[in-house]
Amino acid sequence: MDKIKFLDLGRQPIANRFLNEDEFENEFFYNLSVGFDQDTGLVTQMDYVDAPMMFNDEYAYRGSMSKTMRDHFAKFSKYFKDNIQRSPKVLEIGSNDGVFIKNWNKKTTFAVEPCGNFAQETNDMGYETYAQFWDIDTSSEILEDQGKMDLVFSANCMCHIPDLDGTFKAIQNILADDGLFIFEDPSLERMVNLNSYDQIYDEHPHVFSVTAMQNILNRNNLSIVKVEKLEVHGGSNRIYVKKTNKANEDTSVEDNLTLERNMGLDKLSVLDDFAEKVHTSKNDLLNILTRLKNENKKVISYGATSKSATIFNYCQIGVDLIQYITDTTPEKQGKHSPGMHIPIITPEEGFDNSVDCAFLGAWNFAKEIKNKEKDFTGKFLTHVPRVRLL
Ligand code: TMP
Repeated sequence: MDKIKFLDLGRQPIANRFLNEDEFENEFFYNLSVGFDQDTGLVTQMDYVDAPMMFNDEYAYRGSMSKTMRDHFAKFSKYFKDNIQRSPKVLEIGSNDGVFIKNWNKKTTFAVEPCGNFAQETNDMGYETYAQFWDIDTSSEILEDQGKMDLVFSANCMCHIPDLDGTFKAIQNILADDGLFIFEDPSLERMVNLNSYDQIYDEHPHVFSVTAMQNILNRNNLSIVKVEKLEVHGGSNRIYVKKTNKANEDTSVEDNLTLERNMGLDKLSVLDDFAEKVHTSKNDLLNILTRLKNENKKVISYGATSKSATIFNYCQIGVDLIQYITDTTPEKQGKHSPGMHIPIITPEEGFDNSVDCAFLGAWNFAKEIKNKEKDFTGKFLTHVPRVRLL
C-alpha cells in the first residue's frame, strides 16, 4: 500500500478494554494516525494494532444491547428470507453475541467469532461457532466441514480486518457460485459529512468508501451488485457482493460511486479538510466542557462507547470534565474507560435529573436514547455534525 497520512489522533488505548484500577499502570497505548491509500482510495490506519490485543476472551462489546440493532438484524433477516432465498446456508463472520444469527436456522447457520466468550455463547445457543479469526485456513476448514455457503454475512467486522485481500480471497473460497456476500460497515461518506472522526479507533483500521471497496473486491474476483445506505452506527453502507460480472449491477452501485466522486472522496484534499474540521471539533468540545465546569454543572457521558474512547483520548477529556459514564453493558459497569479512566456506572445509579448535561457517547443511538429518556430535564451534548447542546 502507498499510504499518505492525513490525520493524527494521538496516543490511544485499546478502545474496548475497560479497566480495574490495578490495571491502569500497565495499559497499552499506540499512536493512532490515519492515511489514504493511493492505489485503492482506502482510508486506513498507518499502523495496525495486533488483532489478539483487541479480540480475545474478555471482549466487552455486545451488539444486542440496543433495540435499534436487534430490530435492524431481525428486519434484514426477514427481508432476505422473504425476497432473496427462504432457507439459505449461512455463514456469519464476527457473530459477537448472536444478535444477527439468532434470526436464522440453527442447523444451516454457522459462525466465526475469535472472541472466545462470545463464541461460547453462540455455541450454547445452538449455532456451531468456529472460535477463530477469519482467514483462508478458517475458510477452508469450514468449507470441508459444511460445504459452500449461499450467504456470507458480516456486520461491523470487515472493517476490523487489516488484510482485506486475504479476507476477500477466503470469502471467494467458501461462497457458492450464485451465493451472496453481504457486509455492512460505517461509511466514509457519512463520517466525512458528519465529522464523526470517532468512527476511527483500534478496531476500525479502515473506514470504507464504496469506491475503495470496489477496487479491492474486483481484484479478488468479486463484484458489488448493490449498495444500501443504512442509518445504523452513525451511517453505514450495506454492500451486496457476487462472483459475477457487471451485468447484474443495481443502479445504486453507480449512484454511490458518483456521489463519492462528486464529494472528492477519491482524493486526499477532502480528507485534509476533514482533518482540519476534526481539530476544530476538539477545540469546540473542550471549550463547552470547560464552560460547563466553570458554571459548576454536573456533566456525564451516556454510553461507554469505543467511539468515545477516541474522543476522550484525542481531546484529553478526563474526570475533571466528565464525572462518570453510564452504560447498560454489565461487562463495562464498575470499570473505567480506556486511557482517560473515567468511572463507568449503571444508568440506574447515574442517570437522573441531578445531571445537567450528558455527552452522547452513543450519539448513533440518539433517537432511541431521547425516546427512552423523555423525563430528562438536563441537556444532551453531541459533537456530530458539530459540537452543540441539543
Ligand atoms: P456502540 O455505539 O459502539 O454500539 O456502543 C453503544 C454503547 O452504549 C454500548 O456500550 C451500550 C450503550 N448504551 C447505553 O448505555 N444505553 C442505551 O440506551 C444504548 C442504546 C446504548
